[in-house]
Amino acid sequence: MATKTRILQILTLISISLPLAKSIHFDHPAVFNFGDSNSDTGNLVSAGIETLLSPNGQIYFKNPSGRYSDGRLIVDFLMNAMELPFLNAYLDSVGLPSFKKGCNFAAAGSTILPATATSICPFSFGIQVNQFLRFKARVLELLAKGKNFSKYLPTEDFFSKGLYMFDIGQNDLAGAFYSQTLDQILASIPTILAEFETGLKKLYDQGGRNFWIHNTGPLGCLTQNVAKFGTNPSRLDERGCVSSHNEAAKLFNLQLHALTKKLQGQYTDANVVYVDIFSIKYELISNYSRYGFEQPIMACCGYGGPPLNYDSQITCGQTKTLNGTSVTAKGCSDSTDYVSWDGIHYTEAANQFVSSKILTGKYSDPPFSDKMPFLLKLKF
Ligand SMILES: *[C@@H]1O[C@H](CO)[C@@H](O)[C@H](O)[C@H]1NC(C)=O
Ligand SMILES: *[C@@H]1O[C@H](CO)[C@@H](O)[C@H](O)[C@H]1NC(C)=O
Ligand SMILES: *[C@@H]1O[C@H](CO)[C@@H](O)[C@H](O)[C@H]1NC(C)=O
Repeated sequence: MATKTRILQILTLISISLPLAKSIHFDHPAVFNFGDSNSDTGNLVSAGIETLLSPNGQIYFKNPSGRYSDGRLIVDFLMNAMELPFLNAYLDSVGLPSFKKGCNFAAAGSTILPATATSICPFSFGIQVNQFLRFKARVLELLAKGKNFSKYLPTEDFFSKGLYMFDIGQNDLAGAFYSQTLDQILASIPTILAEFETGLKKLYDQGGRNFWIHNTGPLGCLTQNVAKFGTNPSRLDERGCVSSHNEAAKLFNLQLHALTKKLQGQYTDANVVYVDIFSIKYELISNYSRYGFEQPIMACCGYGGPPLNYDSQITCGQTKTLNGTSVTAKGCSDSTDYVSWDGIHYTEAANQFVSSKILTGKYSDPPFSDKMPFLLKLKF
């Protein structure tokens, strides 16, 4: 039933959003993606740093698949819309992964700023960019040797024609709340974005010309943050989200948007697109029932039961002894009713909603209009 409502919503979106401004071409031969768990398709798991358990992946891949969700991520839906295969993780070395149509450097837990001794993930943005540089150099080296790797590797022109996608910054902000005041966090945003700009510039200097930058979501609405920072109701907004976290996300996005404007002016031979993920996710959480969801904040896979079903000591699928009792963080009966999968990441249903909104072209700067063919290719 929830799914039906959603299809109707999306069809309505298609019909009301047709007459729109500028056209953007999605005929990219490859995608190079950088980010955190929002778009990690297997790097942190391949690196051996974390293990994902069932029921992760249950709704689509039937196994955890290296993704922090019950199914597909936004990046998977976008690849699908561009008629490209799912991105392989750069660190996935088993099973002859093909990188012909691109490569994913995103790793769960990563930050824009360099990792520290307490970071979960060493693959910060700068490292991901270095991994890309290594990837590109190695591809060109193999091509120069005249070996035929056409099935597995991109050709040289794919690096200039390819789409460079970014979804990172969430962990810089969310992580900082454990040790810094809101004012300190707000004051650190220019430093975070300067590091981001440095990485973008390296990619531009290497010939990247198509940039697709997601802003950060409403961190204050993540179950994990509500559980930890929202125990005092005065810290919550009218949607039940932690106000300070969303304030940090909004200022980050404002400055990120300004940076993309600056780059649009500076890189006149490049396409730089800013995508407002925050507004889409906040709209979903605010008006969830309209889109066929029943739970905007409570985690589907977790432990503790309502109202949050989240316990930071036990991750999705884990069984642990708490208070002398063995307990398991289990999945809910229908994850398509939930926005939050595990308290930190979105369900496939929510990711699909966000992707369909992105593809309307109305949440990006510059906006785009020729999305009809892509929307129709999305599978519901
Ligand atoms: C490389 O191999 C593919 C088939 O795997 C073939 O279609 C292509 O023509 C080959 N290219 C070169 C340069 O030999
Ligand atoms: C949610 O729905 C209400 C009522 O239609 C609307 O005023 C509001 O703009 C919507 N979005 C958000 C983010 O609140
Ligand atoms: C552990 O026991 C304490 C005291 O009885 C209780 O407050 C707490 O909620 C329990 N924790 C879990 C995870 O059951």
